[in-house]
Amino acid sequence: MNFTGSKMITEIKKPDSDCLSAARNIIEQGGLVAFPTETVYGLGANAFDEEAVLSIFRVKGRPQDNPLIVHVHEGYDISRIVTDIPDYAKKLAQKYLPGPLTMVFKSRGTVADAVSCGLDTVGIRVPSHPDAQRFLRAVGLPIAAPSANISKHVSPVTAEHVFSDLNGKIPLIIDGGKCTGGIESTVLDCTGTVPCVLRSGLVTREMIAEIAGDCGEFVPKAGEKVRSPGMKYKHYSPNCDTMLFSFEERYAAMDEYKRQRAAGVNAYIMCNGECARELNPEHLLFLGESGEDIAANLYDRLREGERVANMIIAIAPGERGGVMTGVMNRLTKACGSKK
Ligand code: TXA
Ligand code: MG
Repeated sequence: MNFTGSKMITEIKKPDSDCLSAARNIIEQGGLVAFPTETVYGLGANAFDEEAVLSIFRVKGRPQDNPLIVHVHEGYDISRIVTDIPDYAKKLAQKYLPGPLTMVFKSRGTVADAVSCGLDTVGIRVPSHPDAQRFLRAVGLPIAAPSANISKHVSPVTAEHVFSDLNGKIPLIIDGGKCTGGIESTVLDCTGTVPCVLRSGLVTREMIAEIAGDCGEFVPKAGEKVRSPGMKYKHYSPNCDTMLFSFEERYAAMDEYKRQRAAGVNAYIMCNGECARELNPEHLLFLGESGEDIAANLYDRLREGERVANMIIAIAPGERGGVMTGVMNRLTKACGSKK
């Protein structure tokens, strides 16, 4: 059966036993299943099946040099996939897994080549969402999965978001409700003597350093090779015009909003509670109060924005560090340049 043909019916199902056995059949036959995690929804294929993994890239329109993360259930023995696991990684796994932390290790070469896109490493993730664990246990195979959106679009945090991007392209979306984390997992290079954050997320550099003793952060300099290939692409972009202002520039953002409105543009302000109370814009995409709130709401508000507005005028929160590092990374990529 061709599970990635163009006129497929896409079903959204709650994760009951029928759904999980359908998911297992699809995966075993080389098809794709979208599933919830605590961060964003993933688009999964059997990580041992080269053709299935290649079809992920086709369905998403994803560049072939951007490697995929391999998802496993809590009881899976990852030494089947990777080797050279340092002690600090074992400690981190004990403290933060299952959870929103992806660890990159040296590959054993057992997963399909297309997973790693030519790198000699593999990123491993053990998601904590109970329905992700249920799906991974039902399938019993490591699942290669990127976020379940069309490449460069905003990552999906509900089954409906996945449907709006991938309807007709995949057979099944497992509906586990709204993701509570909201931004993608922290990607951590565990191939060196000290761990190094390649993509920031909810498990922060500070939280990693607390357990591992130290933690680096990869910030590419001009001309330097990017170590997490996905980070070089424009990402997370809503299909409308965007502008990004710093917290200090919030009054300039409000002036811009009024100017756009006066010119007939359906502009919305996207900001946190502190800013919303101070500026009180009529058309608001509300991000919430704490860093965790903002992470959880960001993609949902960006997708709401592209539905209700022609222009999102985003104002960055004032805080820095911790979860805000990941939030700012996503916000800058989503709204950083006016299209
Ligand atoms: O929370 C998440 O991580 C979600 C859910 C579905 O698990 N997945 C996700 O996958 O965000 P994706 O494909 O959208 O992003 C994976 C990121 C990319 O930036 C990629 O370059 C990086 O992880 N990555 C994957 N394997 C890598 C490797 N071996 N070395 C360095 N970076 C890697
Ligand atoms: Mg993605």
